[in-house]
Amino acid sequence: MSTTQVEVGGGAPYTIHIGDGLLGDATLLARHLRGRHALVVSDEHVSPLYGGAVVAALQSARPDARLATLVLPAGEAAKTFENFNRVITALADMGATRDACIHALGGGVIGDMAGFAAACWMRGIDCVQLPTSLLAMVDSSVGGKTAIDIPQGKNLVGAFHPPRAVAIDTATLRTLPPRELRAGLAEVVKYGAIIDAGFIDWLDAHADALLAMDATALSAAIARSCRHKAAITERDPLEHGERALLNFGHTFAHAIEAEQGYGAGLNHGEAVAVGMVLAAKLSARLGMATMDDATRLTTLLERLGLPVRIPGGLDADALLARMRLDKKTAADGLRFILWDGIGRARIVAGVDESAVLQLLRED
Ligand SMILES: NC(=O)c1ccc[n+]([C@@H]2O[C@H](COP(=O)([O-])OP(=O)(O)OC[C@H]3O[C@@H](n4cnc5c(N)ncnc54)[C@H](O)[C@@H]3O)[C@@H](O)[C@H]2O)c1
Repeated sequence: MSTTQVEVGGGAPYTIHIGDGLLGDATLLARHLRGRHALVVSDEHVSPLYGGAVVAALQSARPDARLATLVLPAGEAAKTFENFNRVITALADMGATRDACIHALGGGVIGDMAGFAAACWMRGIDCVQLPTSLLAMVDSSVGGKTAIDIPQGKNLVGAFHPPRAVAIDTATLRTLPPRELRAGLAEVVKYGAIIDAGFIDWLDAHADALLAMDATALSAAIARSCRHKAAITERDPLEHGERALLNFGHTFAHAIEAEQGYGAGLNHGEAVAVGMVLAAKLSARLGMATMDDATRLTTLLERLGLPVRIPGGLDADALLARMRLDKKTAADGLRFILWDGIGRARIVAGVDESAVLQLLRED
């Protein structure tokens, strides 16, 4: 089994392992089980497919350990206090001690929610991320951001809690619904858009291979994305500066997601695709970049089967009101991640609300 490893340095270093079949690697999965309690948290789609393999691997490597499994509903609508509480209750019920470990098996919803529970239980226990969606592999499992949603906004309650390790089993992508694969590709494109113009060239050349689930192309895209996320989060773990670039398109995306209702309409990756196009267009309107760059990004996202316009029925004023509540909004008004062109994103504070409103109304 050939694996790629990406190291994430900084105060709480960890390794991202990327390979085909890693969920069967008992030694790797059990390596970070310091104590005797392991809780595998997954969702109702992923658990029947891979939960058994993970539990069997942990059991064979650590027959002395007490293992429990918690299966939660799937999807963004499940990223709630109620389900967070179920993870905490499962830890309490098994008598989990400070050296317990959560294995978060699933997409970004499970990773964020289980990771947040790991951050909170006894003020922080270990969490091993086992991402099974492309989006979770290239983005949410790396970097230590954990959260749940509340009706007022997405990810408003959470913590920074880096994982002990990330094990990306690329074989799990074979069961991922095509729409979810495309959602993950939106976050892959994001790395090119913000800091790696060469990656956009590569994605232009490999779009068909990625959509056809070519294993070599997918592994290359995952590794390149993870290297970017690792480098950025290592330099700026708490998002005091550069890390905010990873939110390119997200101010728009989070407003769209909140406004349409979690779990309805566009999923996160799709909303990010629309948001990136809006950010690129806003950059052009503000004279920072050319419209040609916005068009190139739009064309690539469309080729990847992603939406590029705000869904009908969403009110521009309501979206703007949501953006004012966004975590990236500071005292100095609306703050966006915009770009000076492909691969050159930067933080722009005090963006004129009327320009944003006009863009939202016209889209
Ligand atoms: N923490 C971070 O830094 C960060 C970054 C980006 C996104 N996120 C969060 O990630 C979430 C989105 O993650 P997501 O797109 O993975 O959504 P998700 O977790 O809802 O997964 C998408 C769907 O795919 C299913 N699925 C996952 N893997 C599968 C597989 N291998 N086979 C079959 N079905 C599978 C899931 O059950 C679900 O129905 C959002 O809540 C977003 O806020 C967090």
